Amino acid sequence: MKKMTKMTTMHWMTKELKALQLKAQNDNIPILSNDGLLFLVETIKRKKASSVLEIGTATGFSAIAIALLTGVTVTSVERDEVRYLEAVNNVKAFGLEDKITLILKDALEIDIQETFDCLFIDAAKAQYEKFFNKFEPNVSKNGFIITDNLNFHNLDINKVSRSTRHLIKRLTSFKAFLKDNQAFDTTFSDIGDGMSVSERIQK
Ligand SMILES: C[S@@+](CC[C@H](N)C(=O)[O-])C[C@H]1O[C@@H](n2cnc3c(N)ncnc32)[C@H](O)[C@@H]1O
Repeated sequence: MKKMTKMTTMHWMTKELKALQLKAQNDNIPILSNDGLLFLVETIKRKKASSVLEIGTATGFSAIAIALLTGVTVTSVERDEVRYLEAVNNVKAFGLEDKITLILKDALEIDIQETFDCLFIDAAKAQYEKFFNKFEPNVSKNGFIITDNLNFHNLDINKVSRSTRHLIKRLTSFKAFLKDNQAFDTTFSDIGDGMSVSERIQK
């Protein structure tokens, strides 16, 4: 298992992206941190990915930022209709309708045939393993899977509510699942709220 280092700062945040980020933060909608986003963007560029499947659109901040900063196409799934509709408006406002496809559906109930170079999992934390297993077949031969929030804000398991303790346990079990997975080589990082990159092992 390799350990990754922190990203260098870049001037990438446009006024429009900042407004989108602030609106989500003011509405208490959890979105990817700047560090996490830059890490994701750099990984997509480094690995020359051309398409991303994102699980968890929220209002479209990460999908829009990824499309703007890398030029790749993004398909993103969201189950909350209010957030989905806001994302649709945001994608239009950025003129990215040809780059971003938004799907309103519970990701665990969807059937996607297409293949993507990158799968980005950023939805319900308790379901990460299910998302991984369900969408892993949609990841191309040289593709990779990125997950966020693996550190879950470094909360102390002894000082949180029962439901949060349950989530922390599920994330711990997901990390063990990634480490044991023979089909993927996973690298863990403390960037953002704890991210992993799982690269398909070539046979
Ligand atoms: C952390 S937010 C996504 C943030 C977004 N990726 C960003 O950084 O701008 C997680 C989103 O996943 C959605 N979600 C949770 N479980 C889901 C599921 N099973 N299918 C689709 N969306 C789901 C939630 O409604 C929420 O809007």
